[in-house]
Amino acid sequence: MRILVTAGPTREAVDAVRFLSNKSTGRMGYALAKAAVEVGHDVILVSGPVALTPPDGLLEFVPVVSAADMAEAVKSRASGCGMIVMCAAVADYTPAHPTDRKMKKADGNLFLELKRTEDILKTLGQQKKPGQILVGFAAETDGLEQYARAKLAAKNLDWIAANDVSRPDRGFAAGTNAVTLFAADGRRFDLPLQSKDAIAKEMLAVLLPSPR
Ligand code: CTP
Repeated sequence: MRILVTAGPTREAVDAVRFLSNKSTGRMGYALAKAAVEVGHDVILVSGPVALTPPDGLLEFVPVVSAADMAEAVKSRASGCGMIVMCAAVADYTPAHPTDRKMKKADGNLFLELKRTEDILKTLGQQKKPGQILVGFAAETDGLEQYARAKLAAKNLDWIAANDVSRPDRGFAAGTNAVTLFAADGRRFDLPLQSKDAIAKEMLAVLLPSPR
């Protein structure tokens, strides 16, 4: 099966030298891409800026910077994919008026106007091909199940991997993770704390019980 995985943060330019981003390191998405290659899938990895080496054996590696870049890269490849896993921590907002030059400071406070980015996963959910499996991630500090299930429904997903990001041993920038997978049909799988590589393998075994 052709599988597209997104990973890492996005960077939203403020000016020529500054950007807004988040704590994502890309490790969970890279682990998922690697695990999918190892099972024999054709894997496209669309990655925001991270300090990781892409796994061997990818069908395609697509480096991107901003949420808009990621949206373009994913949407243009989506129709040929049997499964899309949106693991990237895509910025929800981007500066409304980025400047090409470096901004100079002035006295007083600075107010930055931010505009919403496209919700890539929501667009994919609206354009879902028959049989295509759409998987999202939900990073939450509280109300894990409630918020995750709400996102699953709102974005027309098949699965959502809920991540508690209020604890240092899981989620953003941790070497380990624990996720709960919620399916659109109501099923739930709790994957206990373990390395991100091990979580990735278990996730794939749940998402695609019969390989290829
Ligand atoms: N996502 C996306 N495009 C965006 C933002 C997020 O595709 N512009 C995807 C992420 O890759 C992830 C899921 O949507 O799979 C996260 O859902 P979202 O509702 O955006 O979560 P949060 O950003 O955490 O939203 P909130 O701030 O409302 O909790």
